[in-house]
Amino acid sequence: MAQDKIILTGDRPTGRLHIGHYVGSLKRRVELQNEGDFKKMFVFIADAQALTDNIDNPEKVRQNVIEVALDYLAAGLNPDKITIFIQSQIPELCELSFYFMDLVTVSRLQRNPTVKTEIGMRGFESSIPVGFFTYPVSQAADICAFKATTVPAGEDQKPMIEQATEIARRFNHIYGETLIEPNILLPQNEVCCRLPGIDGKAKMSKSLGNCIYLAETAKEVKQKVMSMYTDPLHIHVEDPGHLEGNTVFTYLDAFCKPDHFAAYWPDYQNLDEVKEHYQQGGLGDMKVKKFLNNILQEELEPIRIRRAEFEKDIPAVYDMLKKGCEEAREVAAQTLDEVRRAMKINYFDDAALISEQARRFATK
Ligand code: TRP
Repeated sequence: MAQDKIILTGDRPTGRLHIGHYVGSLKRRVELQNEGDFKKMFVFIADAQALTDNIDNPEKVRQNVIEVALDYLAAGLNPDKITIFIQSQIPELCELSFYFMDLVTVSRLQRNPTVKTEIGMRGFESSIPVGFFTYPVSQAADICAFKATTVPAGEDQKPMIEQATEIARRFNHIYGETLIEPNILLPQNEVCCRLPGIDGKAKMSKSLGNCIYLAETAKEVKQKVMSMYTDPLHIHVEDPGHLEGNTVFTYLDAFCKPDHFAAYWPDYQNLDEVKEHYQQGGLGDMKVKKFLNNILQEELEPIRIRRAEFEKDIPAVYDMLKKGCEEAREVAAQTLDEVRRAMKINYFDDAALISEQARRFATK
């Protein structure tokens, strides 16, 4: 099984990566990489997809390609073990997207809930760029060109992977078994699927300004933790506190491990004890925030240190990406050869076709 496992996932370079990306997917990717239980693993920077809703802001995408690459390396992704590449540098992906367009209907795309939400968020209702509208098709091409079996991603990507699966199935049905139907690999811990922003608002997102970034300094992280949204009814220490919608506790659910208590808060044995005390009253927000800050600092410090190292040699990071693009292109080109053959558009590498046609016209 693992022999056939091909893992692929990517991010849009529209900003630096934050701890929502980290618990939602990045951390798991590093674990998967280090377990080594796969045939191939690809992680890519989806710059062409980022341009679908940033077409007038190419500089933003360009700047964030290197930021995301640094975040990857800092988080522990290792180009000696996996292939890291940039989407736009693989022209085969455009070609495959073009063929895939024929396998999807407009109404099917209109039903994609993630795209629906995004159209609303961007105010695109009456003027949706075609490229943006069809990005799920191009995402299916990203996945299928590498014959990915396993796509680690957050819950919001579920409709995309479903669409990719449908497209692969339809392709195979029409043209014969060529592509692989992918599966999504969701975070194991439910809270990690959708980490809220520090203001308690739905999701951590750059546009809401409620993120803690991976590359942030220790001081910035601490300031943000101390300003986090908790329970507006928990005014005095002795008041009973509420856990629902309390961002500090949501983050603890995502980040806290049993051994953090001995290290940072020996008054308690586990998170349930803290929650119980908080709900009873008598436990102040400050103490909980300090604990969370210690945990986040422990998690983020090695990432920050590694990032600083990689930042010292930026040309080497671009070299790494270039090599990754070359490796990725070879794989995608191989798939596209198979796709063209299946679709009967391989005119020049098919000796049988040419002699068959020659015969047909000779007997006319
Ligand atoms: N849509 C993903 C995001 O917004 C990025 C992405 C593009 C992707 N192509 C992909 C993720 C293929 C997984 C597989 O983050």
